[in-house]
Amino acid sequence: MKRVAILISGGGSNMLRLLDGMRDGAIDAQPVLVLSNKVDAGGIAKAAARDVPTKVLPHVDYAKREDFDAALHDALIDARPDIICLAGFMRILTPGFTAKWEGRMINIHPSLLPLFRGLHTHRRAIEAGVAVHGCTVHGVTAELDDGPIYGQATVPVTPADTPETLAAKVLVQEHRLYPAVLSELCADHVPRLSLGAV
Ligand code: GRF
Repeated sequence: MKRVAILISGGGSNMLRLLDGMRDGAIDAQPVLVLSNKVDAGGIAKAAARDVPTKVLPHVDYAKREDFDAALHDALIDARPDIICLAGFMRILTPGFTAKWEGRMINIHPSLLPLFRGLHTHRRAIEAGVAVHGCTVHGVTAELDDGPIYGQATVPVTPADTPETLAAKVLVQEHRLYPAVLSELCADHVPRLSLGAV
């Protein structure tokens, strides 16, 4: 059984779907750590309520990005994860850190990569006038929102959509895609999943 660590910065809705999958046996893995870089991340209490080990490592307590990443590395070494899932973890990690965990670290991004790397993906999708948008689970490398794509899920974009309505549609797909990809990776498969609109 694989050991999984999940890094969050916020409410953790994706994190909860991953925990559900591990609890229900759909994902052959056990959660060994949920870690947040934000003290006020609501997801930490939700994970603790499920008896999952948690840790808060406030990035604001570190003068340099490298110092935070070194402390993050040590916390992960203690947890001994086989796979690290970034789930709404809003930190850019240093190349020195990503190099140590490359091949064992994945992220969910709210766009159909390589389109709309970075922030504000839903507003940018609407401004670009795309008819299809979605989310991507990819391997984490030193390049932001780059790395091998393990799965994508789509949503239609309508003229009535706002960034908020699009974000809500994409989040539903994120909650389907992330557990499906993690389940494949925990079965030692290298997935390339595509999920259509619900
Ligand atoms: C998700 O939309 C994810 O794609 C983005 O941040 C959001 C986090 O949501 N990176 P949650 O904390 O998992 O609810």
